Amino acid sequence: MKTIFSGIQPSGTLTIGNYLGAMQQFVKYQEDHNCYFCIVDEHAITVPQDRLKLRNNIRSLAALYLAAGIDPNKSTLFIQSEVPAHTQLGWMLQSISYIGELERMTQFKDKSTGKEAVSVGLLTYPPLMAADILLYKTDIVPVGEDQKQHLELTRDLAQRFNNRYNDIFTIPEIATPKVGARIMSLQEPTKKMSKSDENEKAFISMLDEPKKIEKKIKSAVTDSEGVVKFDKENKPGVSNLMTIYASCTGESIKSIEEKYAGKGYGEFKADVAQAIIAILKPIQDRYHELIDSEQLDDILDQGRDKAAATANKMIFKAKKAMGLGRIKKKK
Ligand code: TYM
Repeated sequence: MKTIFSGIQPSGTLTIGNYLGAMQQFVKYQEDHNCYFCIVDEHAITVPQDRLKLRNNIRSLAALYLAAGIDPNKSTLFIQSEVPAHTQLGWMLQSISYIGELERMTQFKDKSTGKEAVSVGLLTYPPLMAADILLYKTDIVPVGEDQKQHLELTRDLAQRFNNRYNDIFTIPEIATPKVGARIMSLQEPTKKMSKSDENEKAFISMLDEPKKIEKKIKSAVTDSEGVVKFDKENKPGVSNLMTIYASCTGESIKSIEEKYAGKGYGEFKADVAQAIIAILKPIQDRYHELIDSEQLDDILDQGRDKAAATANKMIFKAKKAMGLGRIKKKK
């Protein structure tokens, strides 16, 4: 049995990109692995957040995890800021991170370029992410493709710590789905679909109503060729819709091409919308049952306690390895 860890930021309602790239995988892993899934609220504050919105987003993300099929009897679900070990180890790992390697992170460059005030947290975000993962002796981290670079850095930091101090960290492997690891924007299909996109038509939120989903897919940017064919370079819009359809239904890209041979985009788009609705509708129904329930709080309390118990053991080891704290004299 392997240990799995992954996290999602509560920085807006999740998109189908988050679902197909990450969450859908999580649900499969919990059947035969020891899984930790985290609401990484301390990562979210590296960019300005409205206090009340953040609180709502944290609860909403917890409900979405459960609605999507995370089973608290099989997985540990918790909020990052409720387990102080994350920032504790985050600090220790910052101390062995180099400014140069953090400045090279694509996400840092994307989020900081052209901005006047860039928080230090945005730069030191990856060591905190490394801490999340390394606290639990994680073997596998299921994520979308955009997190690959952060995972590489996590492995480097773990190795650096192990070589410099003591061999305490497991070196984690990344797992991305074969199809759906990078869902693109519906309006600019050469750009990643993102929950923080200013154009609402660019993404489908996991809580969008069926009518809205139909509308957004209908207005998704394609091309004038009218042929349903997978060609990322020349037909990024259509290829993205095909990827979404394939991830929602489990059908292969090849069989989708065959199915829509000689048919136009209208019929294809209508089916893509229905495939998304079929996946999201049951999740949305469960979400509405959970969001205001006490059960949700009980699950998060239990998750916090379970995660903290494991994480604190690693903090003890890491402090010892680095020489932090003291050895008490015997009386
Ligand atoms: P975040 O919150 O941006 O995204 C959560 C997960 O969704 C995936 N994802 C996508 N997959 C496919 N297509 C897309 N368009 C798309 N957009 C997002 C992400 O790859 C991710 O798996 N740094 C992380 C959160 C984090 C974390 C961790 C992850 C913090 N600590 C420890 C794993 C382990 C992030 O910002 O994800």
